Formats: sequence, C-alpha cells, structure tokens
Amino acid sequence: MARVTTAGAAPAPALQAQNLSQTFGDTEVLHGVSLQVARGEVVAVMGPSGSGKSTLLHLLGGLGQPSGGEVYWEGVRVDQLSVDARAQRRVRALGLVFQHHYLLPDLNLLDNLRVPGMILGEDLTARAEQLLQQVGLGGRGGAYPEVLSGGERQRLAVARALVARPAALLADEPTGSLDRANARRVAELMIDLAREHASGVLLVTHDEALAALADRQIDLLDGRVVPPGSPATALPVP
Ligand SMILES: Nc1ncnc2c1ncn2[C@@H]1O[C@H](COP(=O)(O)OP(=O)(O)O)[C@@H](O)[C@H]1O
Ligand SMILES: [Mg+2]
Repeated sequence: MARVTTAGAAPAPALQAQNLSQTFGDTEVLHGVSLQVARGEVVAVMGPSGSGKSTLLHLLGGLGQPSGGEVYWEGVRVDQLSVDARAQRRVRALGLVFQHHYLLPDLNLLDNLRVPGMILGEDLTARAEQLLQQVGLGGRGGAYPEVLSGGERQRLAVARALVARPAALLADEPTGSLDRANARRVAELMIDLAREHASGVLLVTHDEALAALADRQIDLLDGRVVPPGSPATALPVP
C-alpha cells in the first residue's frame, strides 16, 4: 500500500490532503488543497459559507471520491481503497462529528457508544462508560438520545467519535446548532478528550472564539487555502 515517505523516523501525520480537488459538474469547488494534521494537533478551518469546507472534510473523511489529489490517514493512502476497505480503516483512523449528531435513536446512550466496537469486533464497554462520565452523562447509559438536550447530544456524538481512540477527529461545525455557552463547552470537551489520546483535530467553525482554541488556523476561500499572512483580496480571481 502506498505510504507517504517521511524523513528519518518522523511519524506520518494523522491526516493529510495532497493537492485535493473536487469538481461538481462544470464547477470546481476545491482547487488543489494540501494540508496536514499531526497527532495531538488541533487545527481550525475557517472560511465563508460556500468556500468548500464541508467538501474538504467529506473528502478527508473518505466519504467521497476526489476529482484529483490524494488522501492519507496515518500515512496510508486511502482515496484509492474500496469503499468497504476504507470504511473498515476509518473506524480506527477517524472520528467524525457533524452539526447534526447522527445518533441512533433506537439505541440507548451506552449502545450508541459501543457501535464502533461492534464494527471492530472489540468490546469497548469500559471505554464507553468512561467517556459517558467524561462528557457529563455518567449513569445515563440506559437513556435514549431523544431525552437529551442539544448540548448533551453533541457531547455524546463527541464521545462516540473518540471511543475507538482514532488518530484524528474531523468536526464540521459540531457546535453550529448550539448556544454560545454550550458550543464552548462541547468544543473544549472535544479538544481536551482528543488531546488525552493525542488524536489530531480538524475543526471547521464559524466562531472565532472556538478557532482560538486551536493550535493553528487554516483559512479557505473559494476552494483554496489562503496562504498565511496574505490578505484575502490578494488571491487571484479564478
Ligand atoms: N454535492 C454537490 N453538488 C454540487 N455542488 C456542491 C455539492 N456539494 C457542495 N457543492 C457546492 O460546493 C461549494 C462548496 O460547498 P461546501 O463545501 O458545502 O462549502 P462550506 O462548507 O464552506 O459552506 C458550494 O458552492 C456548494 O454549492
Ligand atoms: Mg459546510
């Protein structure tokens, strides 16, 4: 399997995009985006609506096929894998959090957290119970998602994303439907819990205050990474 060559013993990044592009019909919405997220590193992605943030995360998550470029998880190229092989690898490599929680309504909270373990053929009950405590839902494992508040659901979604100790978290506006106080709590919790196991985090957010929690920020404009320090208006108009 193709691997990124790294100098010496440097570990492969948790997540890497190399020259990623995406075309829908006649419209190219991502133009050669390259980025890396190291294990333990928190990177915020900001940019106006329609700048390609969700498309980028979709491709990095292996949920779609890029029109060009490459995606690597822990140094392994995954964009050329079969959908099944990628799904199997994703459980270990990535946790995904979206604006909507995507919890399974017919499973209680503990079972929602055990789903990744079922896919891996591993009993993650102890880890799931620990995470329930850590996200402030200890003792409520038998409850169902419908009784949770919006903030509690997102905290559970964060716990589920981290249950298999993935190399990286991909979070697309995970607090976009929450009020300020809950948004901050969920984002801080996500970052703290990710750091516990040195999971990298790529966090798409509109909120400057949440982006400030990251180690660094990547700005996306019209499907391109804005070079750090350059005024957005200096970008060539496509
Ligand atoms: N499946 C799709 N088919 C056609 N156009 C799409 C599709 N997904 C996204 N787009 C377009 O790609 C551009 C970037 O969208 P998106 O990645 O959702 O931006 P953001 O998340 O930054 O708001 C937008 O112009 C959007 O309309
Ligand atoms: Mg989006």
